Amino acid sequence: MKTRVTEIFGIEYPIVQGGLAYLAYAELAAAVSNAGGLGQITAATLRTPESLREEIRKLRTLTDKPFGVNFAIARHDGNYQELLEVAIEEKVPAISITGGNPKPVFDRIKGETIRTLVLVSGVRQAQKAEELGADAIMAVGQEGGGHLGRDDIGTMVLIPRVVDSVSIPVLASGGIGDGRGLLAALALGAEGIEMGTRFIATQECIHANEAYKQAIIQSKETDTIIIKKSLGSPGRVLKTGYALDIIEREQKGATYEDLKEMISGMANCRYIYDGNESEGFGWAGQVIGLINSIPTVQELFDEMINQAEKGISRMGRIFEE
Ligand SMILES: Cc1cc2nc3c(=O)[nH]c(=O)nc-3n(C[C@H](O)[C@H](O)[C@H](O)COP(=O)(O)O)c2cc1C
Repeated sequence: MKTRVTEIFGIEYPIVQGGLAYLAYAELAAAVSNAGGLGQITAATLRTPESLREEIRKLRTLTDKPFGVNFAIARHDGNYQELLEVAIEEKVPAISITGGNPKPVFDRIKGETIRTLVLVSGVRQAQKAEELGADAIMAVGQEGGGHLGRDDIGTMVLIPRVVDSVSIPVLASGGIGDGRGLLAALALGAEGIEMGTRFIATQECIHANEAYKQAIIQSKETDTIIIKKSLGSPGRVLKTGYALDIIEREQKGATYEDLKEMISGMANCRYIYDGNESEGFGWAGQVIGLINSIPTVQELFDEMINQAEKGISRMGRIFEE
């Protein structure tokens, strides 16, 4: 496959593994990069600069292909600079930025050879990222797992809107889990895709507890729900009793302070690492309705490309008739 995304990032398929808090480490990132996509390590959940450096070096022992490091800058309470310095020192091929004003990051990496992706949920953010010099935009629609935009715009509308509003390449994100989604994204004008939830249910996502993976493959598209909307930072999670409890508290007027522990990274880890459903939560997108296997990343790529190719010939036949 060839799009501006494959050219800019030096990859075979324009498929990016999204930053996945507490799950995106060297093993998963290497598997995605080795399969021809762009794997990523998530800096936010590595905390110390030294642990990020170790993870980058480990990743380099597992792949010689391009990869990225994800910076969800709001999560660091603004303290991501030291981690960014490590990424620059280690000469990582790409970084992705989300969840805040990316200007200081662009100011710092000016003159470096690092490629940049900015994850946005709306047109204005996309235009701002382009002005700042981003190489590509990833736009995530409301179907997606994890943190989302506040405007409830689905991928089907968001992608063409963003494509029409910037001249740099756009990757579609939110709700994509198979070759049909890949093809649909390309049809909407995107030049690649980002997937989050689909990569959790893979063999190489070794940090995810089996219960989390099973929940993803057994659930339907109706089994997610959005928490933290009242706090201004909506995020899509598996619809469990724990998640419904958070929402009930929000409806009763709970503040951030009241909910801090329940929505913390620790609570996230209690479920995704330990499978403790009554004391934690797991991010997941509506695409869980389409996921029913736990393949290797290579198998997933093979199946997606095969399905996309079949889809193209099916569409070709529709237009011929
Ligand atoms: C478990 C989980 C954790 C996530 N953590 C991050 C993160 O740390 N940084 C980030 O940029 N995006 C994060 N996201 C969002 C993904 O990168 C991606 O935008 C989203 O999952 C796309 O929607 P999909 O889940 O339908 O593929 C996360 C998503 C999930 C499901």
